[in-house]
Amino acid sequence: MEHHMPVPVINILRLHLIHHLSQLDISQLIMEQQQQQQQQQQQQQPASNPEKPALAIKIRPETPADADAIHALLLAAFPTPAEAALVTTLRASDAYVPSLALVAVHDSSIVAHVMLTRASVGDARALGLAPLAVLPDYQGQGVGSALVRAALELAGEQTLGVLGDTAYYARFGFLPCAEVGVLPPVEAWKPHFMVRAGGGGVKGGVFRYHEAFDAV
Ligand SMILES: CC(C)(COP(=O)(O)OP(=O)(O)OC[C@H]1O[C@@H](n2cnc3c(N)ncnc32)[C@H](O)[C@@H]1OP(=O)(O)O)[C@@H](O)C(=O)NCCC(=O)NCCS
Repeated sequence: MEHHMPVPVINILRLHLIHHLSQLDISQLIMEQQQQQQQQQQQQQPASNPEKPALAIKIRPETPADADAIHALLLAAFPTPAEAALVTTLRASDAYVPSLALVAVHDSSIVAHVMLTRASVGDARALGLAPLAVLPDYQGQGVGSALVRAALELAGEQTLGVLGDTAYYARFGFLPCAEVGVLPPVEAWKPHFMVRAGGGGVKGGVFRYHEAFDAV
């Protein structure tokens, strides 16, 4: 295999030959090159810690003025327009809690959105987390995780249900519904439906989203 000398070393050798640098100058150059390399590596690697998004984002509740941008975001993030239509329907329903519909903003643009809407487990109140979407170009950079964590903080002790990738939602404290004695609204969802218990735990029962979800 061909052996390549690292570029910074070549640069330093070249400079040394041309300018006859002192040992002190070379040490300084090596340090600068190492710092440069570290900076480049940090820029190339997305943050793996979901609590620390690589992007500077601001999370805030959505406003009516955000509706078009959120609609476009949902169309871009999901393969069908079903979720975009669902959000429009949910906003017009009594399931809608404006303070629990959040957007993530980067450089004045909305790059992610999540909604928690009124739901129930048996006779008790609960919240459903859906939909959650991050613009394709911004996925895999911790934005979705930051948004979920912000929503969970606002939800406080309330019981939450979510249908989705169990490995993804497990990292936020959601448990398989069977473990907390909750049945999903649709029997076939059982392997993919998760629940986050409030402070007082969850009384068993069937989780029900608002009827707006029936159309999805
Ligand atoms: C799913 C989604 C919201 C995740 O948001 P994101 O900003 O891309 O995710 P994050 O960067 O916060 O992900 C953090 C971690 O979750 C993992 N992850 C991301 N999406 C995942 C998925 N669909 N299933 C399982 N793991 C996933 C990432 O690999 C990453 O793992 P790591 O921390 O070990 O590197 C986003 O990819 C999306 O909008 N997808 C399209 C719409 C969708 O499927 N929404 C979910 C409906 S329930």
